[in-house]
Amino acid sequence: MFAQLYIIYIFFLVSAVVGIPVVNLQNQTFSTDGLVPTRPKCTDPNNSKYKSSVCATRKLARVSCESNDNSGTVVDTNFSCGDGESCVDITSNDVLCVDENNALVWENNHYSGFACSAPVLLVPPHESFQLVAGMTTYSTTGDPMQVVVLLAKYGDDESREFVGHQNNFTFAINQENFSKNLSFCFAAGNEEEIQAVASLGYVLL
Ligand SMILES: *[C@@H]1O[C@H](CO)[C@@H](O)[C@H](O)[C@H]1NC(C)=O
Ligand SMILES: *[C@@H]1O[C@H](CO)[C@@H](O)[C@H](O)[C@H]1NC(C)=O
Ligand SMILES: *[C@@H]1O[C@H](CO)[C@@H](O)[C@H](O)[C@H]1NC(C)=O
Ligand SMILES: *[C@@H]1O[C@H](CO)[C@@H](O)[C@H](O)[C@H]1NC(C)=O
Ligand SMILES: *[C@@H]1O[C@H](CO)[C@@H](O)[C@H](O)[C@H]1NC(C)=O
Repeated sequence: MFAQLYIIYIFFLVSAVVGIPVVNLQNQTFSTDGLVPTRPKCTDPNNSKYKSSVCATRKLARVSCESNDNSGTVVDTNFSCGDGESCVDITSNDVLCVDENNALVWENNHYSGFACSAPVLLVPPHESFQLVAGMTTYSTTGDPMQVVVLLAKYGDDESREFVGHQNNFTFAINQENFSKNLSFCFAAGNEEEIQAVASLGYVLL
């Protein structure tokens, strides 16, 4: 009985990305006042149960959906992001289509070293939400592009979280880092032009 509850809880945790914070880039602040549901959905009525999603391109999410009649049968469907939106990884299982005005978008200008986003000031979310963050790197043609390092840095702290040799990086934001400035960075490792999109998200606890 307990094990069952636990599994449901975990499933809920990883799949319940419910929105992205409203961003005021002018004041460099991610506030958590608004919920914008931009999660890719299962559009086929016969396979309507959302399982997970990945960014196929900057404009297209591939969504894994479970059959209504045949649980265990998973069908992949395409979900196109809207005008002015980009696909960004937000948890290890979920992507969001984010409005580029509500996200961080930057590029390396053919520089092989670190290119960082503008800093954003984190604002603590409502207590029933976990604040998460993610970034995805793309080629100029919009294909997910692996880079040498993806990292997040808080304020002027030396401490950083990073991954190597990926095209995306997702992480949860701990309470101790609320009210700090967060920047996202990547190093391409060569002079290829790379564009990055980063966003914050909520996961319902
Ligand atoms: C959904 O399933 C019903 C019954 O199996 C079938 O008649 C219908 O064509 C299916 N719809 C789609 C969109 O595949
Ligand atoms: C995102 O990175 C993970 C590894 O951290 C990888 O398994 C996944 O395939 C990547 N997503 C895409 C769209 O390539
Ligand atoms: C989904 O998009 C891919 C291109 O990324 C395409 O090859 C595939 O045929 C599409 N699938 C459907 C069901 O539309
Ligand atoms: C949060 O801040 C602490 C201390 O500055 C740091 O060690 C940690 O890596 C930061 N990031 C996360 C995700 O906890
Ligand atoms: C965050 O960054 C802004 C602009 O870079 C700066 O003015 C502000 O003092 C920083 N806030 C904190 C809490 O570090």
